[in-house]
Amino acid sequence: MPVIAVIGAQWGDEGKGKVVDLLAQKAGVVARFSGGDNAGHTVINPHGEFRLHLIPSGIFSPRTVCIIGNGVVINPAVLLDEIDQLNQCGVNTSNLFISDRAHLIMPYHTLLDGLEEESRAGKALGTTRKGIGPAFTDKAARLGIRTGDLLDKEAFLEQLRFALDYKNTILTKIYGASPLSLDEVYAQYCQYGERLAAHIRETDIMVEEALNRGELVILEGAQGTLLDPDFGTYPYTTSSSPLASGGCLGAGISPTKISRILGVFKAYCTRVGSGPIPTELKDETGDLIRERAHEYGTTTGRPRRCGWFDGVAARFSTRINGFTGVAVTRLDVLDILPRLKICVGYKLNEKTIDYFPSRVSTLEKCQPIYEELEGWQTPISDIRQYEQLPPQARQYIARLEELTSCPVNLISVGAERGQTIMRHDIL
Ligand code: IMP
Repeated sequence: MPVIAVIGAQWGDEGKGKVVDLLAQKAGVVARFSGGDNAGHTVINPHGEFRLHLIPSGIFSPRTVCIIGNGVVINPAVLLDEIDQLNQCGVNTSNLFISDRAHLIMPYHTLLDGLEEESRAGKALGTTRKGIGPAFTDKAARLGIRTGDLLDKEAFLEQLRFALDYKNTILTKIYGASPLSLDEVYAQYCQYGERLAAHIRETDIMVEEALNRGELVILEGAQGTLLDPDFGTYPYTTSSSPLASGGCLGAGISPTKISRILGVFKAYCTRVGSGPIPTELKDETGDLIRERAHEYGTTTGRPRRCGWFDGVAARFSTRINGFTGVAVTRLDVLDILPRLKICVGYKLNEKTIDYFPSRVSTLEKCQPIYEELEGWQTPISDIRQYEQLPPQARQYIARLEELTSCPVNLISVGAERGQTIMRHDIL
């Protein structure tokens, strides 16, 4: 059985949750490998409607082991809340395991995320303020505290004392904020540790064992390629790698084991937070897409900026990840539009370019070059066979295939699990 990585190919919110929920029914393991509760994966299935921030979208498949890998930063309060909510809906979470190497989001991380954003004033990144950046900063600075550390309370106290001393100096001296109490944070996190202890494991070993048993392993991406700190629109990015290669590191799996990489694209583009989006529609078409698709952030509720499909960014995303196939989501959102545009190049200083610039200042100068296609102007949400799609919709998909040089394996025509057209076997 293969290892398949399901990767956000744009700026996040592409519908990875739905795709993973669908594929997970055949999987032995689903592992999240990056980000934290900045993610919001919407899943609508026979159990109900869920917005998962940390727990892998495979949790609804009863025989699937769900792993929050070492590459994720975990806010234990959010995780416990999510476990409780799922349990209340009758979803079993005893198959959920957390890497002992995954770093914790501490109260000072969330505080600092907000304070740092405010201090940037007009240059704010538009983060989710969930403490993601500060937690990954501490991981790199070797000041982080990991889930496994909660299992040794004495050692944890010393780690926390050291970190909190430092963080309280920053909170009080740089930002004029109140210090955090060691006793309170310690007591709170010891409680979290007690509740999470049964879930904390060396999860990389569990992944290896599943592979040895010949089971399908799904690496569930969070955020999207263009938010990658190296290859995204830096500094308007997140702090961990949403790329397929990030999947190896964040789940503890060798690159040689990954056999399929599925890039998930929306049929158009969206972005939440600051930073450039070359094909952004600041007009009524953008508003129409936002309202029709309810494009508001799952985690923060912020309106998402909407734009036409960007073929230049898509090609870049395909190259940097090595997609072997593509899933196109929300195609039905375009049902009502008489004409559709796809960006096939950028105009930069009177020249045509076909690459995605590495610098934001350059990207901001790029004007999209569009190709126009006819819309289909008929509802497609009830269609399950590719051949039954209107010819204009098939033409649209064919153009995306040409631009990405990748087969479109799956097309999503609605939010529910069943509203899916499976074209080729992904596995
Ligand atoms: P952070 O990850 O909270 O630090 O936010 C950094 C940037 O990534 C901001 O522009 C966020 O809006 C964006 N971002 C983070 N997570 C997601 C996501 O799951 N979907 C879409 N955008 C995200």
